[in-house]
Amino acid sequence: MTRLVRTRDELAAARARLVEQVGPDATVGMVPTMGALHAGHLALLDAARTGCDVVVASIFVNPMQFSQPGDLERYPRPLEQDLALCEQHGVDLVWVPTVEEIYPGGPAQVWVTAGELAAQLEGPNRPGHFDGVLTVVTKLFAAVRPDRAFFGEKDYQQLILIRRMVQDLGQGVEVVSAPTVREPDGLALSSRNLLLSPSERARARYLSAALLAGRAAAGSAAAVLAAAREVLTGADGVDVDYLELRDPELGPAPAAGPARLLIAARVGSVRLIDNVAVELCP
Ligand code: PAF
Repeated sequence: MTRLVRTRDELAAARARLVEQVGPDATVGMVPTMGALHAGHLALLDAARTGCDVVVASIFVNPMQFSQPGDLERYPRPLEQDLALCEQHGVDLVWVPTVEEIYPGGPAQVWVTAGELAAQLEGPNRPGHFDGVLTVVTKLFAAVRPDRAFFGEKDYQQLILIRRMVQDLGQGVEVVSAPTVREPDGLALSSRNLLLSPSERARARYLSAALLAGRAAAGSAAAVLAAAREVLTGADGVDVDYLELRDPELGPAPAAGPARLLIAARVGSVRLIDNVAVELCP
């Protein structure tokens, strides 16, 4: 049965009880979320359930990672539905802290800063976003003390930054990633999709269509980008912010071998991101 906890003390006591039930070698898996759970989150919960003895999910809409006015207020918060999904997917513990519980002294004065890796792609459009993500993930890790934490590839830059943070700060958590879950027409699942009007939703499929065309080109960097751009040429009402090729760690794209093709675009008032793995050949 899933248990809901609110405070750090409740969390620590419930975690200790669950670990005690399994024994001293119990592995604790964590899925940090901002709620509005969709099939992408559920795949992470399932991966945690399969690979760990104790599964903890956190639901916290982190004010420190929102840089666009209005985004925080309109972020969906269907808590009852999220708790029911956690129950169905075998989560042991759901931690739903208040803002005061996470930031007891008011907005953080000391942050984890993301550095150079955050100066590209999403960074310029969302000043301070990744500092906010890394700061809250550090706080969540410190409270939950997971052995493994599960993140989706959909937020690829976030995933790479969290991996790097865990390594650089020696946080002792294994970061496990899971592939992006998509709608039948290819649209990557995201809580933001709920904000799309029906006509915006129809246009949103161009992002994944462009990425998949790039991947199918399976040629040089120029060929991959050209194939993706061609799809976007016909995409009225899709305002592309970037379409970029990088190596899998987000360094410069290699001439050949594994790479990542990433896109961000505004569809109406909703900004969407997506990415796929591609194989470059000279
Ligand atoms: O990906 C998210 O949902 C959030 O950025 C995270 C990792 C839960 C931090 O607030």
